[in-house]
Amino acid sequence: MPVVDRREFGGRFSVKENSQRLANYRYLEIQLMEMIGGWCHTMPQLAVKATFGYHVYDHAQAADLLSERLEQLRAARTSQEPATDAFAELCEYVWLLDSTIDRLVAVYRVLEPHLVSSYVYHADATDPLSDAPTVRLLRQLAAMGQSHVAWGQAVLDGLTRSPDERRRALEVQADIEARLVACGGVTGQGIESHWLTFHSAKEEEKSPARVKRGRGGYKFRKQCAPLDHPVVEAPFWFSGDPDDFKVYQADDEWSLEGFRHKFHQLLYGEVETTDRMGKMLAEFPDLPWEMRMELAHQMWDEARHIEIVAKVVEDELGGELGYGPWTLVWWWMQNEADPLRRIAVTNSWAEANLMHTLREWREKAEARGLTRIAELSDYLQADERTHVRLATDWIRALTEEDPSKRDDLVHWGREAIARIQNFNARRDGEIVTKTAGADARFTFQKPGDASLVGAVAEVAGD
Ligand SMILES: [Fe+2]
Ligand SMILES: [Fe+2]
Repeated sequence: MPVVDRREFGGRFSVKENSQRLANYRYLEIQLMEMIGGWCHTMPQLAVKATFGYHVYDHAQAADLLSERLEQLRAARTSQEPATDAFAELCEYVWLLDSTIDRLVAVYRVLEPHLVSSYVYHADATDPLSDAPTVRLLRQLAAMGQSHVAWGQAVLDGLTRSPDERRRALEVQADIEARLVACGGVTGQGIESHWLTFHSAKEEEKSPARVKRGRGGYKFRKQCAPLDHPVVEAPFWFSGDPDDFKVYQADDEWSLEGFRHKFHQLLYGEVETTDRMGKMLAEFPDLPWEMRMELAHQMWDEARHIEIVAKVVEDELGGELGYGPWTLVWWWMQNEADPLRRIAVTNSWAEANLMHTLREWREKAEARGLTRIAELSDYLQADERTHVRLATDWIRALTEEDPSKRDDLVHWGREAIARIQNFNARRDGEIVTKTAGADARFTFQKPGDASLVGAVAEVAGD
């Protein structure tokens, strides 16, 4: 049988140039992941938060797939490098934008379209036979990026209704595009195109040599100003007044009304967890990459939970979103400088408890014939297991050499839990206790830990 392969040998990139480009793309994928992750808690629209959760995980996966190819091309898996300092400065400029529209314009109308076109160009210009894995990878990433761009376009069309707003958005776009072109784009090689088929490209068959970059190129850190709570759109709201929570009282907590109150409060938890995962990704770039992949995955899960829980409240439980508030006793932990503190109470205690809570919801809902509620509770419960395990495994791994640090987390965590329990007691009209939080267990505790001496080490969700 004749073999038919119409591809020709010859591409523009050496192995070295190829891997340098992939390292440049990986840098931008990680920048995009961190930017939208870090912005998430200051973006009021729930629809934006939820989509950012999907996109953050897409960028994390893209960076991971690029790692794989980088390794195959003799580079380090962790390679990520801005082609020029000017490109890194452009990323910082975009990160510091603070209006929703400007941020969306910068990412979805400038940076991601540029990344998509760089991928398509690279896939077309590289050797189709010897570099086939890169071709396949970049076409896949281009398709994913294109879907993000399409989403961004639709959202921006919705947010810029008046001619003035549209003009302003275009001005922001033109400004950022000019900066992008001036710094030579993601590869630093200028904005490349290959579509002038009537123009022979023979003279430029190989891509130009790169300017050598020394070590210690321009770096910046993404810091978020501490807030009392994430920014949410009306009618969602936060309150520190226990009386405001009376709206969630029901005579029968397992009635439809009771479930409505439970799910409505859970919705805020999903929002905060989506937001806090994104914030961690932005603020702690030095955590192990595998851990960051898991954080990004959790952000996606929580974003899906926003969608699921909001829909349950509205469609299954007849609730109007925003009818009740959410407390301030959780978010402050996300302003802590230690990343392990941020997940100690939330993942290793609260989400572990949530596994029991959701199981109970499923059982009670089943008993009342609320099949849909039971099914959804079961799916949410299954996801929690991964979130608890993330913290259990990583806190243990990162404190392996230093058990006293683990005890420290327990001590700090118990005080944090006391704050939560005391607020809940005041909300429920109960007596505030001095010993609140004192017996709280965390899934990352290990049998030999000082904080567990004399106690049974069985912890929920472990
Ligand atoms: Fe969740
Ligand atoms: Fe969760």
